[in-house]
Amino acid sequence: MYDIHNHVLPQVDDGAKGLRESLRMLESAILQGITHVLCTPHANDRSGQQAGELFEYRFQELLDEVKRLDLPVELGLGSEIMFGMNIADLLKYRYASLNGTEKYFLVEFPRQTPFEIILNVVKAAKKWNRVPVVAHHERYPLAFRNADQLIKLRAAGAILTMDAGSLTGQFGKAMQKHARDLLATGHIEILTSDAHDAEKQSFCLAASRDEAAVIVGSAAAWQMVLDAPRRIWFGDDWPKYESNAA
Ligand SMILES: [Fe+2]
Repeated sequence: MYDIHNHVLPQVDDGAKGLRESLRMLESAILQGITHVLCTPHANDRSGQQAGELFEYRFQELLDEVKRLDLPVELGLGSEIMFGMNIADLLKYRYASLNGTEKYFLVEFPRQTPFEIILNVVKAAKKWNRVPVVAHHERYPLAFRNADQLIKLRAAGAILTMDAGSLTGQFGKAMQKHARDLLATGHIEILTSDAHDAEKQSFCLAASRDEAAVIVGSAAAWQMVLDAPRRIWFGDDWPKYESNAA
């Protein structure tokens, strides 16, 4: 499996507190069959240049440890960008695209962001020559009220993702029920761990994939943790979305 959203990089954000925790998180990822981990630290906490230098430094540190311990996992670097004025500026930095491919970027929004704003960002991404991967779409109540909103976002080029933990009940029963309903619409394309630590919010992609399989079937669930995120890892083109309703 490929995980394209997590905070396993040590000491750069609210994720892993140190190398030791990063390694514990990676061990749990490996045990559940994750072979590729794309590190996506929060990008807006410091200036673009500073973030780039810090992320590269920590990434190299983690890579060296993985190599030294001979862990069977590939690491990539990207980031998670909070919606704000500086998205277009940030995109010039290598870490602002997922795995440095200058193709996809991971974007998150404040919870109550209106649907139109999310749609506008998705449309703007085209001008920036990038494809937006929307982090934890299940958290934006103003942007999933009806299928029409989801169809519009996808038709405009958004790739909608869901946090694995929402589906496994990590964020409570209400969120779990909602995540199941949203997944059943068929508009969520990727499950991501969004792992922050080695305990409460760690990698749970395998458990989430199994939950998803009950709702959308095993083939579609595997697609969400393997084929779809692999496209992003390699910067391959995304299949054009054809809406049945259009
Ligand atoms: Fe995140």
